[in-house]
Amino acid sequence: MLASEKEQLHQDVVMFAENCASHRSGLLPVLQHIQREYRHIPAEAMQEVADAFNIHPAEVYGVVSFYSFLSTKRKGKFIVRLCKTISCDLAGKNGIATQLENDLGVKFGQTTPDGKFTLEYTHCLGMCDQGPAMLVNDEVYSKVTLESVTDIIESYIRKSGAHVTQGGAE
Ligand code: FES
Repeated sequence: MLASEKEQLHQDVVMFAENCASHRSGLLPVLQHIQREYRHIPAEAMQEVADAFNIHPAEVYGVVSFYSFLSTKRKGKFIVRLCKTISCDLAGKNGIATQLENDLGVKFGQTTPDGKFTLEYTHCLGMCDQGPAMLVNDEVYSKVTLESVTDIIESYIRKSGAHVTQGGAE
């Protein structure tokens, strides 16, 4: 991380932490904010957060590693999360998963080389009667079909300005 990026990170963490009055209950919101801004929680951020909340960095790491929506690995601009729980599984989750992999050109757990999309599985989204269900960032999509999932991905490709090629976003 460049010195200028470290300084920016420091300022961001101080500002986020101040908004939470550096109270321990503010730890998770601050980490969520960092995840949104930086698409991951850099090691430097964990140290900054620990300093701001006057706790040990291991405690911050414990929180980061506990929650699946926090990650030390940089994620794509759009995180596609497909529900893998039983109702969606029975409703055709596997076919949707294959379609997503074909459309984006990456496997689950991977991020496209341009950093635009990350493909992940998630647990139940509470839309069990409307499966298969998936999230793109905070947007929920239900009753997804092989056709609609491609349309959904293409709409995000257009939003991101990425080019569409056979077998993946570029
Ligand atoms: S099982 Fe997929 S939303 Fe509940």
